[in-house]
Amino acid sequence: MLNIAVLVSGGGTNLQALIDAEKNGIIKSGKIVKVISSVEGAYALTRAKNADIPACVVSRKSFQSSEDYDSAILKELDDCGADLVILAGFMSILGEGLIAKYRNKIINVHPSLIPSFCGKGFYGLRVHQHALDYGVKVTGATVHFVNEIPDAGAIILQKSVEILDGDTPEILQKRVMEQAEWKILPEAAELFCAGRLTVTDNKVTIK
Ligand code: GAR
Repeated sequence: MLNIAVLVSGGGTNLQALIDAEKNGIIKSGKIVKVISSVEGAYALTRAKNADIPACVVSRKSFQSSEDYDSAILKELDDCGADLVILAGFMSILGEGLIAKYRNKIINVHPSLIPSFCGKGFYGLRVHQHALDYGVKVTGATVHFVNEIPDAGAIILQKSVEILDGDTPEILQKRVMEQAEWKILPEAAELFCAGRLTVTDNKVTIK
């Protein structure tokens, strides 16, 4: 059984999908042992509490430098013996030291089909606004490993979602979450925990 730490910043619906997947046996090779929020009062913290998962807040504002912030997160990860770190709506950028220490052990869910609508400045509703502004007919979600370049780590799973007439960023966000994110994030977590993912040349092979 691997130890999973989940990093959050907001509503935590992806965290909820992970909690539910653990309950339903979709995640059977890992256990969520800690939730770390970058935002005080995030609803994700209530979800952790309701599921009896230890949770803490490590807020960027409380630290003078990004190095100190990183060390504080690193300490929380080391303390809970994290084998897998899941960024589930985590809106802070992690430093290179932490990423290097947890190389190929950090995964992120992003609400588009990477390499579209991703990278610096593309997060949350903005991603969906860009997709609608561009006029694409299909979008989706991607789960990928985290490296030093935002949203550029090896892709684990992707799922497409149709864009429909009358979509607003909010409507599209909900559809992408329901049809893609909440499915592929738990699936990817289980693939990782079951030891089925190999990364070579920034590409993932699933066995
Ligand atoms: C999700 O749509 C997630 O993919 C996105 O933020 C939302 C968080 O919702 N993440 C990013 O944009 C990261 N670049 P949640 O807090 O309800 O899981």
